[in-house]
Amino acid sequence: MIQKEYTAEARLAVPELGAVTWQSPSNIALVKYWGKKPVQLPANASISFTLKNCYTSTKLSFRKADERSVKVFVDGKEQSSFLKKIETFFKRIESYCPYVNHYAFEIETENTFPHSSGIASSASGFSALALCVLSIERKAARLSDADFYRKASFLSRLGSGSASRSIYGPMAVWGRHSNYTESSNDFSIPYHDVHDIFKTYQDTILLVDKGEKKVSSTLGHDLMNDHPFSANRFQQARNHMFELQKILKSGNILDFNRLVEKEALTLHAMMMTSNPYFMLFKPNTLNIIQKIWEKRESDNIPFTITLDAGANVHLLYPAEYKQPALDFIKDELIVYCENEQYICDEVGNGPLLKTQHYA
Ligand code: PMV
Repeated sequence: MIQKEYTAEARLAVPELGAVTWQSPSNIALVKYWGKKPVQLPANASISFTLKNCYTSTKLSFRKADERSVKVFVDGKEQSSFLKKIETFFKRIESYCPYVNHYAFEIETENTFPHSSGIASSASGFSALALCVLSIERKAARLSDADFYRKASFLSRLGSGSASRSIYGPMAVWGRHSNYTESSNDFSIPYHDVHDIFKTYQDTILLVDKGEKKVSSTLGHDLMNDHPFSANRFQQARNHMFELQKILKSGNILDFNRLVEKEALTLHAMMMTSNPYFMLFKPNTLNIIQKIWEKRESDNIPFTITLDAGANVHLLYPAEYKQPALDFIKDELIVYCENEQYICDEVGNGPLLKTQHYA
């Protein structure tokens, strides 16, 4: 279904040529999106911390042409392996942004996190690209800031669902939920009703397996379609969204830990019980989780873990525990990380426009 409110006029006087650069962050979901309906609509609402240090920088250069052409450069080198995903994205957005059919595009992109770190770059990558594309439209159509970011989130979603949440910091909600005013399946909304403690949260990502994702998120979402437990899981996620709203407001870290870990483990439990089933944990994923839970118990530090659909562990904690956390990682966790690698990140404020010029 084409939604009129997101559709640019066919004869918009867009610039002849130009270039625009956006920096857009990754995000980590607390209540997870796992399961979708066509096209890119979530089976349940989700909420995430927007990250700060893990981001993609994308420069989009464009020149009017008879038909669309796209070249992609990653870290300065031409990369055709991303073209298929990017073409799918352009195909999905062309009815909303008809001008994309009449440009020769060059996309130059780089990530601050190692390319093969096992950290999904789809959220940061597609949100950065959507912001660049929409900047062309904003030049001609004078969108308000609110409309610009909403449509950027809408377009990002068509690249990768979780990308829709990267548009806003410090937190974003994607998916319709009756307790979240103005929430929508079409785009994310910023979420600010958060106790100060959560705005200081650190996310140290312990890299257990830096290889390519073993199960693509597309396949993972599909497995939820005829999963025997999917109806219960979607209901649980809805309940968690409701509970987390109260926790985020009150600042109750112990309740936060319980809910966030239950979400992460449920995501993996779904993968372990789907048809076919997958085990995304590595032995060191479990070693790290075990050590973190022991440390939390012995030192009374409110560490909590969350996971993406992979083996790496995200260690979450308030900023006041940064030093003990880093000491603990160096002393006890680093041995379980591939090449002793981990990434220090924290809650951030969302994308930044770096450069733009039009002619
Ligand atoms: O945006 P996708 O299709 O890559 O799916 C992301 C799924 C999880 O990262 C596992 C959960 C989430 O909500 O981000």
